[in-house]
Amino acid sequence: GLKLEGFDVYTSEDGSDGLEKLKTIGADAVVLDLKMPKVGGFEFLKQAHSIENEPPIIILTGHGGVDEAVEAMKRGAYDFLTKPVNLDKLSLVLRRAIEEQNLKRRQIQLEEMVDERYGFKNIIGNSKTFQKVIQIVKQVAPTDASVLITGESGTGKEVIANSIHANSKRSKNQYIKVHCAALPETLLESELFGHEKGAFTGAIARKRGRFELADGGTIFLDEIGEVSPTVQIKLLRVLQEQEFERVGGEETIKVNIRIITATNRNLKKLVEEGKFREDLYYRLNIININIPPLRERKEDIPLFCDYFIQYYAKKHSRNVKGIHSKALKHLESYSWPGNVRELQNLIENLVVLSQSEWITEDMLPENITGSSNHKYFSVEVGLTMAEIEKRAILSTLEYTGWNKSQAAKILNIGRKTLLRKLDEYGIKREEEK
Ligand SMILES: Nc1ncnc2c1ncn2[C@@H]1O[C@H](COP(=O)(O)OP(=O)(O)OP(=O)(O)O)[C@@H](O)[C@H]1O
Ligand SMILES: [Mg+2]
Repeated sequence: GLKLEGFDVYTSEDGSDGLEKLKTIGADAVVLDLKMPKVGGFEFLKQAHSIENEPPIIILTGHGGVDEAVEAMKRGAYDFLTKPVNLDKLSLVLRRAIEEQNLKRRQIQLEEMVDERYGFKNIIGNSKTFQKVIQIVKQVAPTDASVLITGESGTGKEVIANSIHANSKRSKNQYIKVHCAALPETLLESELFGHEKGAFTGAIARKRGRFELADGGTIFLDEIGEVSPTVQIKLLRVLQEQEFERVGGEETIKVNIRIITATNRNLKKLVEEGKFREDLYYRLNIININIPPLRERKEDIPLFCDYFIQYYAKKHSRNVKGIHSKALKHLESYSWPGNVRELQNLIENLVVLSQSEWITEDMLPENITGSSNHKYFSVEVGLTMAEIEKRAILSTLEYTGWNKSQAAKILNIGRKTLLRKLDEYGIKREEEK
C-alpha cells in the first residue's frame, strides 16, 4: 500500500533484522510495531538512538496498547497510530515526519556553514564594482533594515544574504531561507505563516511556519517576485507590525524578524505592471543591493579561478595548481550569462577532468574559446527585451572594437539611434568607466 504512495518500503519480521536493515540500508522514517520477536520495540528504540542520523520512528499499536505507545513517545518515538491503520493517515504522518527531519538536518548544516563559510573571508571579489557591494553589506549588516538584493542569476545573491545575517547582531539566532518560487501559492502561505489543525484538507496537526521559526533571527525570502497577492498582503503586515495569524487561525502571533529578499526580476517593473504591491516594494527595498553581472567585473575572474581551483583540487583530491594565462584570457573575454555559478561549474569540471597540473587553453569548451573574437552572445530565458537589446549592442561593439558606425551598420540602425541607446542603457567601454 505505502509503495503506491511513492515510498520505498523495506520490511522486517523481527526487531534485530529491522535494526540491521536500518544500519545498512538506512531509512527516512521507521514504522514500528512494539511487539516484535527477538528485539522488542523499546529495545529497538534505544538502539536506534545510537545510529547516526536517526530517522523519526512512528509506533503502530493495537487497541490496548496506547499506554505503551505513549511511553514509547516519551522515549523518543515521533508519533503513534492505532491499528487498523488508515493508509492516508499513515502516509501523511510519514511525510510530515520526514519533512521536519529534513528541515532539522538542513538547519544543522546551515548553522555549521554560517559559522565557517559566510564571514567575509570567503567572499571573493576585488573589483571596484564588487567592493562597493561589500561596503554596503558592511554598513547595513549590523542594522535591522530590510534588504532587497537584486542581480542576474548566479551573481551571488544568496552569498550576500548569508553574509548579511552572519555579520548582523542576529547571527547567533535562527537564519531561515525560503525559496518562494519552489512552492505553489497555498503551500507557500502555510510554509511561511504556519497553519492550524484542520485549516485545510491535509492539515492534520498545527504547524508552525517559517516566520515563527525565525523569531529573533533573519528570514531570507528568495525569488520574492514570484509571491502571490495574498502572501504579499501578509508579508506587508509582518513588515509593518511584525505580526500575523497562522492559516485558519485567529491567534495573532508576534515576531521579531529581519527580512532579506532577493530576486533576479525587475521588481519595479512588476510594480508598474500591477503584479507586485507598491507599498510592499518600498518596505522591502529600504536598502537595495544590486550585484553586478560577472562580465561587468572581469577583474575578479582570475581571483575566482584561483579560489575555485584550490577549492575543487582539495575537494576532489586532484593535483591542479592553476590556470595558464592564455586560458585565463579566454575566460576574461567570455560574457558569463550564468555568472559566478557558471564559472564555478566550469572550474570544477576542468579540475576533475584535468590530466595535468595546469589548466590550458585547449581544455576549454568551444563556446568560451570561440567567444574571444566576440562572434556570439548568449540570451537565456528570463531576460527582458531591453536587456537582450543591451547585450546585442554591447557584443556588436566589442566585435567591432568599439567602432560605433560599423556597429550601427551591423545592427541596421542609425548611428544616432545607437548613441541614444548607449546613453539610455548606460553602456560604456570598460576603459571609460
Ligand atoms: N563573491 C563570491 N564569492 C564566492 N563565491 C561566490 C561569490 N558569488 C557567487 N559565488 C558562488 O556562485 C554560486 C552562485 O551564487 P548564489 O547562489 O548566491 O547566486 P544567486 O544570485 O542566488 O543565483 P540565482 O539567482 O540563480 O539563485 C554559489 O556557488 C556561490 O558560492
Ligand atoms: Mg539564489
